[in-house]
Amino acid sequence: MKVLITGGAGFIGSTIASAFAERGVTPVVLDSLVTGRPEFTGGRIFYRGDIGDGALVDEIFRNHPDIIATVHCAALIVVPDSMTDPLRYYRVNLSKTLDLAGHLVRNGCDRMIFASTAGMYRPEADLSVSETSVLEPQNPYTRSKMMAELLLEDLTSANGLRVISLRYLNPIGADPQMRTGLQSSKPTHALGKMIECHELGVPFKITGVDWETRDGTAIRDYIHVWDIARAFYEAALRFDSIVPPLGSRPGYQVINLGTGDGTTVRELVDAFREVVGDGFEAEEAPARPGDVVGAFVDPVKAKDLLGWKPEYTIEDAIRHSLQWAERRRALDVA
Ligand SMILES: NC(=O)c1ccc[n+]([C@@H]2O[C@H](COP(=O)([O-])OP(=O)(O)OC[C@H]3O[C@@H](n4cnc5c(N)ncnc54)[C@H](O)[C@@H]3O)[C@@H](O)[C@H]2O)c1
Repeated sequence: MKVLITGGAGFIGSTIASAFAERGVTPVVLDSLVTGRPEFTGGRIFYRGDIGDGALVDEIFRNHPDIIATVHCAALIVVPDSMTDPLRYYRVNLSKTLDLAGHLVRNGCDRMIFASTAGMYRPEADLSVSETSVLEPQNPYTRSKMMAELLLEDLTSANGLRVISLRYLNPIGADPQMRTGLQSSKPTHALGKMIECHELGVPFKITGVDWETRDGTAIRDYIHVWDIARAFYEAALRFDSIVPPLGSRPGYQVINLGTGDGTTVRELVDAFREVVGDGFEAEEAPARPGDVVGAFVDPVKAKDLLGWKPEYTIEDAIRHSLQWAERRRALDVA
């Protein structure tokens, strides 16, 4: 039994590939390596190419008729880049997703698990988001993911594709066995900045302490990437009961993945200290232009439909991120 993983040389796709492989499902990776790393495909069945390349997708299905589902992670994901070059983002995340969907339908692969973002929701007053929250994407990246979902949903009613869309916010950590992790050596999220400050021995700046959160600092829903990978596996395992082949239920389901309460910047600093020791300093600073208070995901539906909840703690995720930062440097040197 095999699963096709597009974007399987990226941060999340490569982790999902390991989670499937550990559970006896062989991943077949399709990745153009536009941002993915070739070493993340080591030991995998790997096709280097574009998701829009129909001949290549046909070849993959000819060679692997036992592919039972596609996990679609391939995308461009950097929000500021999407604002300077929206055309490129819509081409990859939207047009090529449409092309891929056509290639899958043509090859009789009707199960897709789509990697999506909970950043498309408008947070409720308490900063939570659920599957019923209003969609209000704020930038071309998030809009491209929302539009891709809209078109996939249309295909499910007419073209026989079935889709589970998993939406999440802030994956951190790395494969616990340190096979793969973030490609970028300088992640821009708060944890990335903390790691940088820790390495340089300078205080971390908590930018913004007047937000309407439990301690005044911004909130994010950090989630361990291995927990996300497990959710993709659970979705594949239960696919036919969640979106039955000939069922009365719609062939499209959205499921949010998250922690249910999120982590504030202060809480992240405290957790970071737990891991690295009290010497880690933080100081307060005003919010920067463009900063947002953030949101966290209500994971009730994921618990019901996938039997899933996060297992790793925020400290585990920090520890794995630190270990990966070191391993990542070693990869660069090698
Ligand atoms: N990282 C996050 O913060 C986050 C949050 C929510 C959702 N997501 C979603 O999860 C998925 C994976 O994200 P990630 O963090 O692993 O990103 P990533 O950049 O690490 O991985 C994306 C992979 O897709 C490949 N790719 C891009 N365009 C391609 C194309 N046209 N054909 C073939 N391969 C192509 C890249 O080479 C890369 O390996 C994305 O769909 C993203 O929208 C990510």
